[in-house]
Amino acid sequence: MKIALLTGGGDCPGLNAVIRAVVRRAEQHSFEVMGVREGWRGLLDPPNHFRLTREATSGILHLGGTILGTSRTNPFKKPVGGEKQVLKNLRALRVGAVIAIGGEDTLGVATRLHELGVKIVGVPKTIDNDLSGTDVTFGFDTAVGIATDAIDRLHSTAESHKRVIVCEVMGRHAGWIAMHSGLAGGADVILIPERPIDIAKVCEHIQNRHRTQNKNFSIVVVAEGAQLGGKDSTLSGKTDEFGHVRLGGIGQQVAEMIEARTGYETRVTVLGHIQRGGTPSAGDRVLATRFGVHAADMCAKGEFGKMAALRGNQIVSVPLADATATLKTVDAESFAVAEVFFG
Ligand code: F6P
Repeated sequence: MKIALLTGGGDCPGLNAVIRAVVRRAEQHSFEVMGVREGWRGLLDPPNHFRLTREATSGILHLGGTILGTSRTNPFKKPVGGEKQVLKNLRALRVGAVIAIGGEDTLGVATRLHELGVKIVGVPKTIDNDLSGTDVTFGFDTAVGIATDAIDRLHSTAESHKRVIVCEVMGRHAGWIAMHSGLAGGADVILIPERPIDIAKVCEHIQNRHRTQNKNFSIVVVAEGAQLGGKDSTLSGKTDEFGHVRLGGIGQQVAEMIEARTGYETRVTVLGHIQRGGTPSAGDRVLATRFGVHAADMCAKGEFGKMAALRGNQIVSVPLADATATLKTVDAESFAVAEVFFG
């Protein structure tokens, strides 16, 4: 059997570890693996692909990014039946199964293609950790580590200058990175998309800390998707093929409001794509490798229309439709732990 393997959406530490693991396991099943370039774009006309061998995937385990390239191409959004091109090309290339490594958008396309008859397996990828069906996605651990390291560094400079520093982290719909890095880094305020920002409360908390706890600096962590007045913050207003607006600017807005209301000197740091680039953590390398091996095994067992997922300590197969139906956002119980520290 020939497996087409692709990576879609934003890149994420651990993608190359999955690719390597799929190829190694597929070889044991005597499958051929075809690497599709740039996500779903590589299956549109003209298709763009190359043979993935053990040699081609050797030495990539620890590398960030994806050797396949990625894109936010949505075949269902193309003016002339992109999904029909995908189906035609898969037939012409004699592809027996597709393994799609991606988040809500890439796996949303996978779910719809499966409904059209494509034999497809998903692997859950996103630093945002907002996919349902799995306890965690690979890439999240690395992103949290990078953000935590940044918060540690911001602490010392905030303290030296007696400043408030607002650190904007990724997290479009879900505040998992903000909450985990904020907890790990000992932030004083954590703002997430799941809870509208109450700026009066934020300022009161910071003032209280400075006045009564003898502290003269504070760290605020804000997820890029956190909302002021029920609106997303965007600098460009541009949207992608899945209709997502390019987020950015909430950190600056929050910082300006804090400074204006409290009089404390405030600065902002936007971590941006630093959270997504570079080498994966050891935990993400292992998780990605387990997902890749399992995905190749799913193809061997004919478990299509499903996604590899982590449940407890086990890697299992869950329906793709369940994984993409709703996003996994920060629940009240998890955030309650954060509120013990952040007011
Ligand atoms: O992949 C998810 C994500 O990390 C979001 O948190 C963020 O909004 C988005 O990617 C930004 O990606 P890009 O700049 O590639 O469009």
